[in-house]
Amino acid sequence: MHHFSYKHGQLHAEDVPLSQIAEQVGTPTYVYSQATLERHYRAFSEAFGGLDTLICFAVKANSNRAVINTLAAQGAGADIVSGGELTRSLAAGVPAERIVYSGVGKTVAEMEQALDAGILMFNLESAQELEVLNQVAGRLGVKAPVSLRVNPDVDAQTHPKITTGLAKNKFGLDMELAFGKYQEAAKLDHVELKGISCHIGSQLTKVEPFADALERVAVLIGRLKGAGIELSLLDLGGGLGINYNDEQPPSPAQYAEALTERIGSLGLKLVLEPGRAIVGNAGVLVAKVLFTKDTPAKHFIVSDAAMNDLVRPAMYDSFHAILPVMEDPSRPKVVADVVGPICETGDFLARDREMPDLERGEFLAALSAGAYGFSMASTYNSRPRAAEVLVNGDRWSVVRTRETVEELMRGESLPEWME
Ligand code: LLP
Repeated sequence: MHHFSYKHGQLHAEDVPLSQIAEQVGTPTYVYSQATLERHYRAFSEAFGGLDTLICFAVKANSNRAVINTLAAQGAGADIVSGGELTRSLAAGVPAERIVYSGVGKTVAEMEQALDAGILMFNLESAQELEVLNQVAGRLGVKAPVSLRVNPDVDAQTHPKITTGLAKNKFGLDMELAFGKYQEAAKLDHVELKGISCHIGSQLTKVEPFADALERVAVLIGRLKGAGIELSLLDLGGGLGINYNDEQPPSPAQYAEALTERIGSLGLKLVLEPGRAIVGNAGVLVAKVLFTKDTPAKHFIVSDAAMNDLVRPAMYDSFHAILPVMEDPSRPKVVADVVGPICETGDFLARDREMPDLERGEFLAALSAGAYGFSMASTYNSRPRAAEVLVNGDRWSVVRTRETVEELMRGESLPEWME
């Protein structure tokens, strides 16, 4: 459930008409709903209320500080994958002891930054990473809190580009190898074994792969216990899907119901890393129709938002509903491609989509754009990145100004032989 709906013939974010934002801030602009963010966070925290749980928002899904701040105020922690995300999360008020650090390629400088900050846990993904972190922690005179991220080799049944828990994926440690690595890690001087983690993929629409992964991890936890290695944190990652089109993903409550009993039997504190399920349907991308055009093959709607603003359709063929900001039930439907100004055939927001026939100059909204929207934006074709706005009831605020071309060129210079 989200708070974007038509009221008095106009698409609103909560109580604010999107046209008002588009006229004042320009387009393309990402608009987020604070009430939706809070609601989705609460859906998770209530669903897992029976367990000792820390919900670490996956900052990669949306790293705007106002978004992170909104969630931190509800009690969320952060799942980070870079020093940049650590800096942002701390700046947005996430306490370090609620931060977990994932990812296959942490640099020494990033390890130092996270150790200095005092984060809850590093989720380590390779034997070398464990070795290096142990050295870095030793140099700083601290103990690094760690979990090993295991790869449970289950099929998440999602898009191949966002599947992470298969043996052939780059993520995590093989389960068998992990058992041995835990025993080695237990002997290291500057590492404290805190937990075990896994993340099998994103946009999952069934609970079974989560349950299978949990079962495999549970077996390993049992084996480790038998070998005298007691852990306190179980991090099951993120990955719960959302409804973009006609998917019917489990709700956080159904997800919790399928897992709670097994998790409870393990006696570990639960860490979750949801990204998309919290922020995906809490954001839309508002754009303007620049032109429409017909070719013998197709009807095109050229919007001022492009693949640099929202790359998901180009990258994963993903579906985002496209709605006119002004509702007019009487207008005819067409089958159209909604495309952007970028010089790539792959630059589209929708393809062969039956939709209202939009006209030049009007505003449209691409829905479900809150996750992996702005955070994956680029400046390809020297297009400054969109503005971001947060709505709260009838109030709204620009939480990131539109980038300027001057900002794009900042840091560039000519070599002295050209001056
Ligand atoms: N934890 C880890 C270790 C992750 O790698 C991810 C996402 C998450 C948590 C959050 O997953 P979520 O709950 O959002 O599914 N750009 C793609 C999605 C990539 C996901 C990468 N990892 C997309 O636009 O669909």
